[in-house]
Amino acid sequence: MARKEDTNQIFDIPFAKRTYLKNSNSKLYIKILLISIFLLLLFLFAGLRLIRDSKIVFSSFLDKQIDMKDDQRILGHLPYPEISKDKLVFIEPNIEVHIDMRESLLKMREDAKKDGIYLVFLSGYRSTNLQKDIFYSLKSIRNQIASERARVSAPPGYSEHSTGFAIDIGDYMQRETDFEVEFENTDAFKWLQRHAAKYHFKLSFNKNNKHIDYEPWHWRYEGSIEALKIFENSNRKSK
Ligand code: DAL
Ligand code: ZN
Repeated sequence: MARKEDTNQIFDIPFAKRTYLKNSNSKLYIKILLISIFLLLLFLFAGLRLIRDSKIVFSSFLDKQIDMKDDQRILGHLPYPEISKDKLVFIEPNIEVHIDMRESLLKMREDAKKDGIYLVFLSGYRSTNLQKDIFYSLKSIRNQIASERARVSAPPGYSEHSTGFAIDIGDYMQRETDFEVEFENTDAFKWLQRHAAKYHFKLSFNKNNKHIDYEPWHWRYEGSIEALKIFENSNRKSK
């Protein structure tokens, strides 16, 4: 029997030409790799956008909550709960404060005295009824409209004094500055500015407050969780 090559020569049959796809597998792998990288980047991008969008949604939700609380303001004053009687203590015949701040307040006065500064307590806790008298009577006596009066006095239910955590302070050596902006020039005020935070006291109405006039004599206590909760909204808004 003739060999295959001979037969091909005789009949001039061309050899079958076989071509192989060179490295076809590695090309496929590269394609898969590129597609995977593309998909990975796509998911990463989509994920980051999702996180960013949910952050925006969350922060606008928080802003709405804050605005809702801000809506509770009356003439610029935030609402405050009235402290229950059993949490009040007298620190002087006419001055009651929240029991939680008594120790700190008295210590502050004692330490100021050691530095030659004589702090006078002018007003502590005020019931909502007393605040009502102060607000409406003075408004009437002084012929003021509510918004004018509110710059210096809170409407009933809106005073920090009703919480028992607010205290008005004067300088014993300069009583003419009681409840006056000039109190800021006294040694007592300068001492308070330097030291009050050590005793957890903070000035409530500073010069930047757009609703309420500057009150250098009015300090509030933030040395307990209850007090911090009560003033949380006010602190957040003043940021
Ligand atoms: N003087 C402050 C604002 C009050 O009445 O509570
Ligand atoms: Zn006050």
